[in-house]
Amino acid sequence: MLVHPILLAGLAAFVQAAPLPDSSNALLQSLNLPIDEVGATAFSLLYGTPLVGFRQLASTSGILELDGTNVLASHDTAANASVHVVVRPNVDTIYSTGVFDLSATDLVVTVPPMEEDRFYLFAFYDPYGDLFATLGSVSASTPGEYLLRATDAHCDSYKGCITSPTPIGTLLVRVEVKNNSTDVTKVASYLSKCDLVPVNPHKPSYPPLTPADFANLSNSTALSTLEMTARLQSRAAPETARFQHAVPAILALAGIRSGSYHQPNCVNLTHASALAEAAVTAFTNSPSSFPSLGNGWSVYSSTYSGSFSSGTAIVARAVVAEQLYLQVTPANALYPTLGRKKTSLTDSKAYLFTFSGRPPVAEDGFWSLTMYNDAGYLVANAENTYAVGDRSNITFSSGGLVYNGGNGTTDGAFQVLVQDAGVPPPGNWTAK
Ligand SMILES: *[C@@H]1O[C@H](CO)[C@@H](O)[C@H](O)[C@H]1NC(C)=O
Ligand SMILES: *[C@@H]1O[C@H](CO)[C@@H](O)[C@H](O)[C@H]1NC(C)=O
Ligand SMILES: *[C@@H]1O[C@H](CO)[C@@H](O)[C@H](O)[C@H]1NC(C)=O
Ligand SMILES: *[C@@H]1O[C@H](CO)[C@@H](O)[C@H](O)[C@H]1NC(C)=O
Ligand SMILES: *[C@@H]1O[C@H](CO)[C@@H](O)[C@H](O)[C@H]1NC(C)=O
Ligand SMILES: *[C@@H]1O[C@H](CO)[C@@H](O)[C@H](O)[C@H]1NC(C)=O
Ligand SMILES: *[C@@H]1O[C@H](CO)[C@@H](O)[C@H](O)[C@H]1NC(C)=O
Ligand SMILES: *[C@@H]1O[C@H](CO)[C@@H](O)[C@H](O)[C@H]1NC(C)=O
Ligand SMILES: *[C@@H]1O[C@H](CO)[C@@H](O)[C@H](O)[C@H]1NC(C)=O
Repeated sequence: MLVHPILLAGLAAFVQAAPLPDSSNALLQSLNLPIDEVGATAFSLLYGTPLVGFRQLASTSGILELDGTNVLASHDTAANASVHVVVRPNVDTIYSTGVFDLSATDLVVTVPPMEEDRFYLFAFYDPYGDLFATLGSVSASTPGEYLLRATDAHCDSYKGCITSPTPIGTLLVRVEVKNNSTDVTKVASYLSKCDLVPVNPHKPSYPPLTPADFANLSNSTALSTLEMTARLQSRAAPETARFQHAVPAILALAGIRSGSYHQPNCVNLTHASALAEAAVTAFTNSPSSFPSLGNGWSVYSSTYSGSFSSGTAIVARAVVAEQLYLQVTPANALYPTLGRKKTSLTDSKAYLFTFSGRPPVAEDGFWSLTMYNDAGYLVANAENTYAVGDRSNITFSSGGLVYNGGNGTTDGAFQVLVQDAGVPPPGNWTAK
C-alpha cells in the first residue's frame, strides 16, 4: 500500500511544530531567537558554552583521568605559561582544583587555619561557572569542617553546610602567595591540609562523572557543545524552578534528549551558531555589560561577575565562560581590563602603565597586572615573570621601592613598562 507523501510530510511538520510551554517561548523571545528548531539550537549553544570550560578543566587538563572526582589536586607553584587548566589563571595565588560528584556521596571540606592577612578562597561552582558558595578570608570563615551536599543530609556536627544546586561541579581553592621563596612552602603546607573526604555514601542517583563523558566528542565546537550539553544534562539541570520548566523543552526541540544530540534535519548549525554569536555581540556591545572605570579600563558588571542569577543570565555566562571561566564575585576580586576589545602587543608597540599611587587594597588584599596571550594563557618569557604587583620589586623613578616587605612608607606615582622581549628597554628603566 502506498502512503501518500503529503500525509507523511504533514505528520512530520505537526510533530516538529509541537508547541513549547509559554515559559520556553518567553525565554527564546527574551533572547530575540526564533521559536523553532534553529532558535532552540542557538539557545542550546549559548546554554552549553560554559561546558567547554568545564571540559577543559575536568578532562583536557587531565584531572578526571589522573585524580578522578572528589579529590583536591594541589599545584606546587603559582600558574605559569604551561598551565592550561582555566583561562586567565592568576599568579598571585596557588591553586588546588577538584571536580566534585555528589551523585553517590556527600563531601567533608576541611579549611585549615591561616594567618589573618592572607587571602584565601574556597570557591564552589556549578559546571556552568556559577559560583554558588564561598568560604575564605573575605567572608571571615571559621577554619574547620564543612559539609558539601546535594541532598538535605544532616550537618549538625559541621561548621557549616553547603548545598550544591547540581550534583557535579568544581571546587577551586586559592591561597595567596607572598613571595617565591619560603612562602611557597608555607602555602603548599596549607593546601596539603585542605581536604575533601567522602561521607554519607548513598545509592547513586545519577551516573558517575567519568572521562567517558568527554570522550569522542566531535571536533566542531558547535557540535561538541551540543553533545556535552546532552551528556551532562541530567547532572547539570537548571537551578531555578522557572528554568527547570522552560529549558528542557527548548533543549529537546534542539535535538538534545536521553543524553545525546540528534541534529534536526532542518537545522543548519552554521546559521544557528551565527544567531548565538549575534546574541553574544549584542551583550558585549552593551555599555551596561562592562561599566567603565575611567582611563580606558572597564570591568564586568557586578551583576555578571561569578554569579549569573542562578543560571538565568544565559548570554552573560556564555560570554564570561569564554573569557574568564570560574570568575569570582566582586566581594573577592575585581578584574579590570584595558579596553573592551583585546589589546595587542606587537614588536612596534609598548604599553606604559602609570599608577598615581599604590592601589588601595584590603589588609589581606593584593593587586597585580598580568599579561595573557590571545588564548587567555600566561605568556612564556625568559624571566618567568607573568605579573607585577604589590609583591614585586617595583620602584619609583627615584629608585626607592614602592613596596618594602609590605611596608610602604612614602607613596607616589610609579610606572610599569610592557613591551616585546626583543626590544631593549630604555636606559633609565631600572626594574626590567
Ligand atoms: C610550570 O607549572 C607546572 C605545573 O605546576 C610545573 O610542573 C612546572 O615545573 C612549572 N614550570 C616552571 C618553568 O616553573
Ligand atoms: C613568583 O614567580 C612567578 C613565576 O614563576 C611570577 O609570575 C610571580 O609573579 C612570582 N610571585 C611573587 C609573589 O613574586
Ligand atoms: C617570604 O614570606 C614569608 C612569609 O611566609 C616571610 O617570612 C619571608 O621573610 C619572605 N621572604 C622574602 C625573601 O621576602
Ligand atoms: C571512542 O571511540 C572509539 C572508536 O570508535 C571506541 O573504541 C571507544 O570505546 C570510544 N570511547 C568511549 C569512552 O566511548
Ligand atoms: C578529531 O580530529 C582528530 C585529529 O585532527 C582526529 O584524530 C579525530 O578522529 C577527530 N575526531 C572526530 C570525532 O572527528
Ligand atoms: C548554512 O548556513 C550558512 C550561513 O547561513 C550558509 O552559508 C550555508 O550555505 C548553509 N549550508 C547549507 C548546507 O544550507
Ligand atoms: C626582590 O628583591 C629581593 C632582594 O633582592 C629578592 O630576594 C626577590 O626575589 C625579589 N623579588 C622579585 C619578585 O623579583
Ligand atoms: C624613563 O624616561 C622616560 C622618558 O623621559 C620617562 O617617561 C620614564 O618615566 C622614565 N622611567 C623611569 C623608570 O624613570
Ligand atoms: C614595617 O614597619 C614597621 C614600623 O616601621 C616595623 O616594625 C616592621 O618590622 C616592618 N615590617 C617589615 C616586614 O619590614
